[in-house]
Amino acid sequence: MPVGCMSQPTLPNFQRAKPFVKWVGGKRSLLPELLRRVPAQFKNYYEPFVGGGALFYTLNNKGIIDIGGGGQAFLSDVNFDLIITYQVIQRDPEPLIAKLREYAAKHNKGYYYHIRSQHQLDDRVEIAARFIYLNKTCFNGLWRVNSKGEFNVPIGSYENPAICQPEDLRACHVSLQAVEITLCDFCDIAPCTDDFVYFDPPYHTQTSSGFTKYAQDDFGEGEHKALRDLCRCLHERGVFFMLSNSDTPLVRALYADAPFRIEVMQAPRMVNRNPTGRGAINELLIRNYGKETDGE
Ligand SMILES: C[S@@+](CC[C@H](N)C(=O)[O-])C[C@H]1O[C@@H](n2cnc3c(N)ncnc32)[C@H](O)[C@@H]1O
Repeated sequence: MPVGCMSQPTLPNFQRAKPFVKWVGGKRSLLPELLRRVPAQFKNYYEPFVGGGALFYTLNNKGIIDIGGGGQAFLSDVNFDLIITYQVIQRDPEPLIAKLREYAAKHNKGYYYHIRSQHQLDDRVEIAARFIYLNKTCFNGLWRVNSKGEFNVPIGSYENPAICQPEDLRACHVSLQAVEITLCDFCDIAPCTDDFVYFDPPYHTQTSSGFTKYAQDDFGEGEHKALRDLCRCLHERGVFFMLSNSDTPLVRALYADAPFRIEVMQAPRMVNRNPTGRGAINELLIRNYGKETDGE
């Protein structure tokens, strides 16, 4: 078996889907707290900053999103390569698995920088394979691009990175059936009454040392204000929403008034340019429904 190509025992696919990438701000550590606070009933599910999609997979694995029973899931993000990868996995993961096997067999430092330099690929499977390969082998699983939109993270130091995980990709394929996956800005979603939206935007940071750059455009104070305004509109429309963000004075001020309810959580922060910036920090969970201290 090629190095980095891990086969795992086959389990019922639908119940074991999990993020196919490591993602900055991934929500796996906070999942139990998030799950407790999901509305008891909702119609459609929206995740407009989907990233790795940890909450989506968990809800879908548990049958909480009623896909096929009248409910739909809408996943979106502005990261082009990420969304192409979701769409490739949704359609047919096998060509992608074959490509990743090839990349895993060839993986070394020179090969990493060769693949990294391929900024203008046209083939969707190659875009997806490059995206997963770089994510699994780059420093800290970061996705950072320069001003031209070119990925520029150096190689990480992993002994045997898990580049190709066929069963995980097949599980994601099953979980993503009947899901609408779109490349779009968070402002462009259109949920209706009784739908549920989980917002996990890039964290607001007060200093320039914090990591907030995921795609070509920064997510700054203006975007955080626009997100708050969208939340107000959604509330008026009868949409449930839950939002995660860092505990900063700006975020507290934006959501200080009704209908917003703020709770403080402790979240391990995985990526920060300054190694001393890692560790448990406070994160805010903001909702427009339920009690202040527990789920619906
Ligand atoms: C904190 S991460 C989401 C993490 C995700 N919940 C997870 O579990 O992996 C933020 C995401 O927002 C996306 N993003 C940044 N600006 C955006 C925008 N204006 N509209 C939609 N998505 C955006 C980034 O590409 C990134 O995937």
